[in-house]
Formats: sequence, structure tokens, C-alpha cells
Amino acid sequence: MGYLKSEITKRNLPELMRFCAGEPVEGLEGWNRRRVEIQELLSRWFSGYSTRIQVRMEGRCTGIDEESFGGKAITKTVQLNLTSDYSFASFPFQIALPKAIKNPPIFIYLSFTPAIADGVGEEILDHGYGIASVYYQDIVPDYYDGHQNGLGRFCTRNPYDSWGKLKLWAFGASQILDYIMDQEEVDISRIAVMGHSRLGKTALLAGAFDSRYSLTVSNESGAGGAALFRGKTGESIRDLYGKGSRLWFAGNFFEYMDRVEELPFDQHFLLSLIAPNHLYVSSAVQDVWADPKSEFLSCVAAQRAYEIYGERGLVTPDHFPEAGDVLHEGGIGYHLRKGTHYLSRYDWQQIIAYRELHHV
Ligand code: GCU
Repeated sequence: MGYLKSEITKRNLPELMRFCAGEPVEGLEGWNRRRVEIQELLSRWFSGYSTRIQVRMEGRCTGIDEESFGGKAITKTVQLNLTSDYSFASFPFQIALPKAIKNPPIFIYLSFTPAIADGVGEEILDHGYGIASVYYQDIVPDYYDGHQNGLGRFCTRNPYDSWGKLKLWAFGASQILDYIMDQEEVDISRIAVMGHSRLGKTALLAGAFDSRYSLTVSNESGAGGAALFRGKTGESIRDLYGKGSRLWFAGNFFEYMDRVEELPFDQHFLLSLIAPNHLYVSSAVQDVWADPKSEFLSCVAAQRAYEIYGERGLVTPDHFPEAGDVLHEGGIGYHLRKGTHYLSRYDWQQIIAYRELHHV
């Protein structure tokens, strides 16, 4: 047995390729059924279910800057208006497209600030990528509000299985995706969803439940993101319960607060749903709260899903990466940066290099 395999065995993970009832998953047909089962597990015990109400979306351009970023890009502000039979919500995002490229690929970027890509937009545009940047709290605020604001209005919160905030932010991203799918000036076969930290957790949920993203990028998403819970160091389920992050998840999730070994899933289930689309996970060596080793092992454990499609998942030597290592060969890309918890220019550059290599 290889070293990484033995590290995974030690984690005692629930089996990806076995149905809850016990039979093994065989072939693509079996996997397709297992995917549905995993989505159900994650909705019920982790993220909460999305609203079942029909929501209609209409996008309105409310502003345009034809000479943004020193004349290199066109930036539009778009207001998305969402209506159901009972409620209404609305949030803005910005879409910046480089003028030098016809039909650029794009990042849907979940942003911590209202500035495009948290202020590094020009660098991304210079590489020939468009950016649709949304300030996450415009979708729904990140504090306890009883789901009275923004998209929360489409489904009130129950203590069990209704959507947590991660699911709501992911729903917001999918509305932006719907809007972009109708834009002729974008390469709709190359739309990535990306976020850092809590927004990396959000990006993973978005990519796991919506196969239209060609690439899902999670930077240092840690607990509730890419990192396996079993055997994890740093942040635990109990820590997630103790703070504002409690609202990010379904209430049911916290039943497993002190019995992680009984959790009916682990995070390699979430990652595996992204297959066969590309996935990129990045970690930082001093980000001990997130736990880089558990983020990495989760990618190793998810690769079975890629193999079912005849794709290579993570291509890695048989040991844990060291700071500075970049693994770009497979359908799952990974890098480990030196330093602490942060979305750095270096991270963006690696992610862009991965997109270029795989044309996603
Ligand atoms: C806290 C939280 C993490 C989260 C991070 C962030 O550190 O404990 O789970 O990822 O905030 O989103 O910045």
C-alpha cells in the first residue's frame, strides 16, 4: 500500500464507492445514482436544501464603464432581480471583460469586498480572463438575520435541513451563472467559480451542485470546505458551531459535533461531485486552522470519482506536498504555498496557469 493510501486508511472515511445500503458502486451508471445519493446526504446533513420555490431572474445593466482598468476592459454593473410568487430579492454584481480577447473565459468570483476581485482585477484581466465579481454579503448578509434579507427570503430557516448561508451564497453564484450563460461575449464553456476561505467552501458547494462550471476553485477553505473532518487538526465542527459560522450550515450538521466518526459523509464526497469537471484546491502551509494536510488528502480521496470517467484526478508523488509544490497535471489541481491564510497574487497566478494548461 502506498504512503498516501495508508494516510487515508487511517482517517477511516466513509466509502465513496459504496451505497448507503452497502452495495458497491459499479461503473458510470452506478456512480450517477451514487452522486444523487451523495447530494441528498450533503443537503440533509451539511449544507441544507435549496429553496423548492420557483425563482425567476432578470438581469438589468445599471451602469457601464467602457474605459475601465486604464481602458483595457469594459465593466458593467448588473442588478439581478429575483422574484417568486411570494417574495422579491435583488443584488448587484460587476462583470469586467478584457477588450483584448474575443469571448474570454471568466471567473465568477465570490468577493469579500465590493471591489472587483477584492482589488486584484487588473492582474486577472491582463491574463485574458473576465471576472464577474460579487460581494458575498450583497447576496445575503453574514450575520444572524433569521433569513429575512436577500435571497434568504425565498426559504425561511428551520433548525434542521433548510439552507445555510453557504448554500445561499452558492445559489447567488448560480444566478450569476444563469445570467452569464446568455452573454454572447463570454466563452460559456469556460466559466470558473472561485472563492477564498468561507467563500472557498461556498465555491465547492456551487461546483458540486451545478455541473455548468468548467472549474471550481477553493482557496484555503478548511473545515466545511475541502478539508476532511475525520482526523482534522485546527478548526472542528464544534468550532464552526461556536461562532457566526453556525448559520453557514444546516442545523442537522451539528448533531455530529462531537461524533465526527459517525458523520454520514466526509468532504471527499463534496469534492467528488465536481468530477469530471476540473477542481482546484490551494492551501498555505501555515494555515493550521484550515489544515493543509486534510485539504490535500481529501483531493486524494476524491480522485476515484475522476477515474470513473476515465480521467486522472490528482497527479501526485506518494507523499504530502511541501511549501512551493504545484500539482497541475490532473483534473484536480493543487498547490501548497508558504505563509498564512490569505488569497495571494501567487495563488491567482497558479490558478490561472492551471486554467491555461487545461483550457478550462
Ligand atoms: C474563520 C472560520 C473559517 C473561515 C474563515 C473565513 O476563520 O473559522 O472556517 O474559513 O473564518 O472565511 O475567513
